Amino acid sequence: MRSRARPTFPHDTCCVVSGGTGWVGRHVVRFLIEQGVERVCVVTRRGTTSECSCDKLNRLREFCDTSNRIELLEVDPSRLLVLPSDTEYVVHCAGAVQSLLESAIMEANLLFAWRMLAAASRLDRLRRYVHLSTLLMRGDSETPFSESSLDIGQHCVSAYTLSKFLAEVMIQKFPHSLPVTIVRLGAVLAPLHISGAFNRDWLYWTLNLWQQGRLRAVPLTSEESFYPVPVDWASQVIGSLLTAEQPPAVVHIPAEPGPPVNHVFSAAAKVAGRDPPDFYAQHSTEWRCYHKSLPSEVRRIVSLCYPPPPAGSKLCAIDSSASRAWLARAGIVMPELSESYWRRLAEETREDTSDTQDLCTEENSGSYD
Ligand SMILES: NC(=O)c1ccc[n+]([C@@H]2O[C@H](COP(=O)([O-])OP(=O)(O)OC[C@H]3O[C@@H](n4cnc5c(N)ncnc54)[C@H](OP(=O)(O)O)[C@@H]3O)[C@@H](O)[C@H]2O)c1
Repeated sequence: MRSRARPTFPHDTCCVVSGGTGWVGRHVVRFLIEQGVERVCVVTRRGTTSECSCDKLNRLREFCDTSNRIELLEVDPSRLLVLPSDTEYVVHCAGAVQSLLESAIMEANLLFAWRMLAAASRLDRLRRYVHLSTLLMRGDSETPFSESSLDIGQHCVSAYTLSKFLAEVMIQKFPHSLPVTIVRLGAVLAPLHISGAFNRDWLYWTLNLWQQGRLRAVPLTSEESFYPVPVDWASQVIGSLLTAEQPPAVVHIPAEPGPPVNHVFSAAAKVAGRDPPDFYAQHSTEWRCYHKSLPSEVRRIVSLCYPPPPAGSKLCAIDSSASRAWLARAGIVMPELSESYWRRLAEETREDTSDTQDLCTEENSGSYD
C-alpha cells in the first residue's frame, strides 16, 4: 500500500481481532503486529476444531513472525462475551463465509456480531470498531442501491448475503452509540505477490475445480465485473482505518470494479492450454436448479460466487464515491492487478492437485435453499 501516513497506534495499546485465525483476520493481525501494536487479542471459538489452542496460537505467531504479542481469547459464541477492559480497537472479522447451513450462517453473522457489539459497548477506552461486511449485501433489484436507505426491497441472493445485510441493519439500530466503520469487501483473493501455497479463496477453488475437470461450467456471469482485492492489501486498509481521522461510516474495498470474470478464466485457460470454460446462464431459475444438482463440494463454491441476477433485475449499482474520496485523501492507492497476477493465480491452482475433500465437510452439506 502506498500511503502518506501509516497508522500510528498509541503505546501499549490492545487491539481485538475476532476471527483472527481466518483468511482475512490473520492478515489483519499480521499487519497490526508489523505496525508495532503491543497486544493483539484474537477472539476464537473454543473447541470447534481438533487443533488445540496452543497449536492455533503457535501457527498464528509463526505466520506473524512474532513470539509474544498475540494472545488468544477463547470464547463460547453463544454466551456473553467479555473483551479485555483496556481494548481500544476492535476488528470484527469472525463470520461464516463458507457454510451452507442457514442456521450456522445466521448464528455466526448475526448473533455473534451482536455479542461483539454488546461487548464493545462495555469498553471505556474504545476508539474504533471495524465491522467486515460484503459488497454483496446490496443484493439485486431494479432500483439503485442507496446508502441512506439500506432496504430498497432488494433480493438477497443467498443466506450469507441476507445475514450480512441484516448485520448492517443491526449496527444502524444498535442502541449504544459506537465508533463503528463498516468495511464492505469485494472478493478477497491471494496476496499481491503470490508465492507458493496460500489460503484458498473462492476464486482459487473455482479455478482449481475447473482445472481438475470437476466443474463443467463456471457458475458466474462471464461479462460481470467482480471486485477483486488482494488479502494483504485489504488488511492494510482495514488496519489503517482504525486510527484514521473521521473515516466514512462505510468503506468499499475495492472502490473500483475489477475485470470481467471471463478475463480471469481466459488467463487460466492459457496457462492450462485449454479453451476457456463455459459460463453458466443468466437466469435465476435455471441457476437454482443447476445449484441443486451440484455435488456438495461444488455447491459450496457456488454459494461463495457471485450468482447471476434474477431475471428482469440487475445487480444494484454501487456508489463508491465516498470510499474513493477517503482513499484518495488518505493517500491509499489500490495496486493494479496485472496480467502476471492472474497468470500466477492460474498456475497455483493448476499445480495444486490436493483433493478437495475438505470442501465436503458435514457442516457444508446442507441444502442451499
Ligand atoms: N473472504 C472473502 O472473499 C470475503 C469477501 C467479503 C467479505 N468477507 C467478510 O470478511 C470476514 C472474514 O472472512 P474470511 O474469509 O476471513 O472468513 P474465514 O476464513 O472463514 O474466517 C472467519 C473466522 O470466523 C470464525 N467463525 C466462524 N464461524 C463462527 C461462529 N459461528 N461464531 C464465531 N466465530 C466464527 C472462525 O474463527 P475460529 O475458528 O478461530 O473461531 C473463522 O476463522 C467475514 O465477515 C466475511 O463475511 C470476506
